[in-house]
Formats: sequence, C-alpha cells, structure tokens
Amino acid sequence: EKGGYDYFMLKEIAEQPQAIADTLLGRLSDRGEIVLDEVRLTDQDLRDIDKVFIVACGTAYHAGMVAKYAIEHWVRIPCEVELASEFRYRDPILDRSTLVIAISQSGETMDTLMALRHAKEQKARVLAICNTNGSTIPRESDAVLYTHGGPEIAVASTKAFLTQLVATYLIGLHLAQIRGVMYADEVAAVVEKLRSTPDALRELLNSMEDVRALARDLKTASTVLFIGRHVGFPVALEGALKLKELAYMHAEGFAAGELKHGPIALIDQGTPVVCVVPSPAGRGVMRDKVVSNIQEVRARGARTIVIAEEGDEDVRAYADHLITVPHTPTLLAPLMTTVPLQILACEIAAARGHDVDQPRNLAKSVTVE
Ligand code: M6R
Repeated sequence: EKGGYDYFMLKEIAEQPQAIADTLLGRLSDRGEIVLDEVRLTDQDLRDIDKVFIVACGTAYHAGMVAKYAIEHWVRIPCEVELASEFRYRDPILDRSTLVIAISQSGETMDTLMALRHAKEQKARVLAICNTNGSTIPRESDAVLYTHGGPEIAVASTKAFLTQLVATYLIGLHLAQIRGVMYADEVAAVVEKLRSTPDALRELLNSMEDVRALARDLKTASTVLFIGRHVGFPVALEGALKLKELAYMHAEGFAAGELKHGPIALIDQGTPVVCVVPSPAGRGVMRDKVVSNIQEVRARGARTIVIAEEGDEDVRAYADHLITVPHTPTLLAPLMTTVPLQILACEIAAARGHDVDQPRNLAKSVTVE
C-alpha cells in the first residue's frame, strides 16, 4: 500500500506532481481562464467582497500565508491570514462583504470549524478549501473548492499543502478575473505557469539524492533555523514545522529581515541555517536582500543550506550546501521550494530512527479545541 516507498510520507511527496495536476483539472479553460462553477458564490457575491480573511492551522495556515501575498497582489483587496485558534477570540470585524476562506486538509479540525462558525454568525461568506469530501468544514461552508490530492495518510501534511496553494492561486486569479483587476492575458500567463508546475516538480523530485546525505549530516544538530522573505517566509515556517513534528528537533523559521532584530544571537559556530532564496529574475531585489542576510549569518559561523533557483550561480559562494529548484514566478515558488524541506525533515527523522508517518503525541486531524 506504500507503493514501494518506506513511508507514506515519501509516497505522498512523490505524488505531488499528480496531486497538483488533479487539482487543476477541469478548472482551467483552453483560453487560460479560471473556471470555478463549482464554487457556489455568484459573480456578484464575489464582486461585492471588500476583504478576505483566511483561517487555518499548522501547515494549512502556512498555505494561507502564501495565499495572502498572491490575493493582495492579484486582487488588490486586503487579505488577512489568522490562526484559526485565535480568530474568534479577537472579535474580528466581519460582515456580508467579507470572504472567509477556511483551509483544512481533513475538514474536521475543530479550531478551524469554530472559526468558520464564528464567521457565519457574523454574516461573512465562508469558502472552504478542503481535501476530504463531505467532511464537516465544507458541509458548514457556503461554498467549497476541493483539493484533489487524494487521501493523505502520513500525519505530516505534504501533498495537501501544495494542493492548498494551488486552490488559493485559483481563487485569487478567479477573483481578479471577475473583478476585472487583471487582464485576460495576465491571468492566462499565470495559468500557463501553473500548468507547467507538475513537470517542473517531477524534475525536482528526481534530483533529491543529495538531500539524503545532508540529512545524515544534520541529524545530530541541536537546532536548525530556517529563513526566507516574502512567500519564502511561510516556506521557512513550514520547513521548521516539519522538522519539529517529525524529527523532534528544535527548529525555527524566521523572516530573513527580522534576524538582526534578535534571533541572530542564536547563531553559533556550525548552526545550520536553511535559507530560501527568491528568484533572481526581474530586478531580483528580494533575492539580493536574502543573499545579504545569508552573508550576515555566515559571518557569525552558520553553516548555510541554500535553496535557490537553477541558474543563480552567484549564490553558490554563500552556500555550504546548495539545493537548486526549477524557475517559477515568485508567487508560485513555494510549490518548488517547500519540497526539499519536506524531504529533509522526513530523512532526518528516519535517520534518527523515528516513526515518520506517526510522530509521537500527534494525530492526523485535531478534533479538539
Ligand atoms: O486537516 P487540517 O489541514 O485542518 O490540519 C491542520 C493541521 O493540524 C495540520 O496541517 C498539521 O499542522 C500537520 N500535521 C503539519 O504537518
């Protein structure tokens, strides 16, 4: 049933290209438009929205963080992302023109369910992004967009994360299209890139041998730090979460620019720092900023594991270990950069002798508040 893999997690990581393709299937027209007839909110409903809230937990929350960048950039309406467990206790400002997107693989996470119930009480419209047909969260939502990732057995979320990203990209582009803030050819250009991600991901998955050797080296580290900027920041948080839950190691993710405001004091001789580098394409301002953050940590003795785009040759000088990923437009980059971090956590956990699919103290879906 593990299809020749040692763990469900590895099988599910390998299934990601197909999971993305399946999540796109039937939702893109030949002309490169987004077709989301299944989302039962009228075009008028979607035009009336003036604010988006995303609520989710754990890995799904990280997908929401990425979505905020995409939605605000494409749709030009404010989008906030919030941990579902915090949402209703804060008395957020919600009304009929607020769209609340609840992201959940299982559809049964109690914190997310309670957040969506609160949103409904306040008359907001609730759209679920969910991987489990007929589960509670989509049943209680006004509309649902299913991720077609197939069953995810391992406790650690992998293919669900990438398909959640795809679902939020579809929603963002759909909103931009309906509200007329993006031209048809602009939407079509992103759609074309989305269509090419399964192949790019297959290529990436075939080049991960090195990560296994790296995992053996890192398995005795006392802490591993992850840094990124923009959409690389949630990827850093996700890399750290995976390592904590699977390898039981101390790990933390940071916005790269925030290090100098305190956390850089953690860095000691040999501290591993995983750095997620943005694409150098375009003006590459963000990429250069991250590279200077890498120099800062190296100056303090860090050992750097750098995730960068193929062809970014200059970054080599700052990497003790370099992992390259295929080129993608900035907002789509987490579909690539997350994958080596999933494999790294899985392999470190295995090298430490842990049960990768069933980490201690954790359940696949958390049905208590
Ligand atoms: O089923 P959900 O997507 O609502 O679950 C949310 C989190 O519990 C989940 O993503 C958790 O953080 C994962 N085990 C992380 O790998």
